Amino acid sequence: MKLFGTMRINEKNHLEIGGIDTTELAKHFGTPLYVMDETLIRNNCRLFQSNFRKEGIQTEVVYASKAFCTLYMCRLIHEEGLALDVVSGGELYTALKAGFPTNRIYFHGNNKSDDELKMAIDASIGRIIIDNQDEMQRLEALCGLYKKRMDVLLRINPGIEAHTHEYISTTHNDSKFGESIFNPTIYGLIQRLATSPYLNFRGLHYHIGSQIFDESAYFRSVEVVITFIKTIKQNIGIDIEELNLGGGFGISYTDTDDPIDLSSFLKRYLDYIEHLVSSLGLAMPKLYIEPGRAIVGNAGITLYTIGSTKRTYGGKHYIFVDGGLHDHLRTALYGADYTGILANRARDERINSFTVTGKSCESGDLIIKSIQLPLPERGDLLAVFSTGAYHYSMASNYNRMLRPAVVFVKDGQAKLVVKRETYDDLIRNERME
Ligand code: LLP
Repeated sequence: MKLFGTMRINEKNHLEIGGIDTTELAKHFGTPLYVMDETLIRNNCRLFQSNFRKEGIQTEVVYASKAFCTLYMCRLIHEEGLALDVVSGGELYTALKAGFPTNRIYFHGNNKSDDELKMAIDASIGRIIIDNQDEMQRLEALCGLYKKRMDVLLRINPGIEAHTHEYISTTHNDSKFGESIFNPTIYGLIQRLATSPYLNFRGLHYHIGSQIFDESAYFRSVEVVITFIKTIKQNIGIDIEELNLGGGFGISYTDTDDPIDLSSFLKRYLDYIEHLVSSLGLAMPKLYIEPGRAIVGNAGITLYTIGSTKRTYGGKHYIFVDGGLHDHLRTALYGADYTGILANRARDERINSFTVTGKSCESGDLIIKSIQLPLPERGDLLAVFSTGAYHYSMASNYNRMLRPAVVFVKDGQAKLVVKRETYDDLIRNERME
């Protein structure tokens, strides 16, 4: 079992993170609790910043905020010098409220509403990534109305299958995202963009999926896309100044996961792109990447208090914790695997195999399908690892459960960056009649 970032087991046999004993965090902030290791997040930002860089190539790292988006996180991302990808009015609003420099906010999404587009135009954000022809027309009309020219990229689908869960794969030919490069109408669309009075066409964006371990999918897709850029140049004489390569870098959830070694990969990736571009006689576009999970995933843990255990007639040994699929959706939704530790008895011998489930009224309410642990007792603290990405951001109020608090820890200090919801929050927007 791997301990990430600043996690360690201390002399009391407790799990510690950010220099703080997790049992203290649980006592002080309650459970379920999302805990984020700020040092690891910053180190991950720096890993991308220092390795996605090459002399003679303009590069930019963009944090995909859908993985985890709060005011505090937006501020941290700005401090680390990354740009920000948002995918909804809500994420954009959060970024604006955090004072994120608007020219470094890039707006994605396959069905942005007119209100969302207006918000983006009004804030003069850096790029709008146009998903399809219909959106291009709506955006153009809105820009005309506001007499503002916006910088845009077009999202394309290069048709490369990355080996990942069907729900998070994005580039099969029936994907809802982007315009296929195999559709002959795409050249007309690009020509239209490039000659629009209100849209300043800067280039292309693609994203091949998420939780990807296979480097070759990145190399194959960029080769297809750079060849497509050459075809654009030949067919319609348009240069692509910017290319956003998307994110998707997988992380280790359990010991069997084997993520890409990013520091080595990113350098080879840039070398490869440079080689492709020059061998086709193209000008080097500015390159972007957009990691989300790889920045925050391993930096987060969730702390739960164990309520009871149950051995079923069929032989399954359950641990019941005080959360559930409302704060941990990925196991129910994707069958994702997780691991963890009894945070208050960290080195105790792991003698039994358990299934960890929560309080949700769903048989599919699974947190960990199978884990070896010491025999737990009521009140023990369970830490589930690698919950920093797509947990808080995918949490819900199913069964009218409350969303947990989020705490950032660093050098022995804990900052409550999101308060635990209250019952009052649940009915705040309601009326009786
Ligand atoms: N860029 C675009 C356009 C994206 O759609 C995504 C993720 C990313 C970047 C960041 O991907 P990452 O580096 O985090 O893999 N809820 C799913 C993941 C959905 C990803 C959606 N798009 C999960 O929990 O696995």
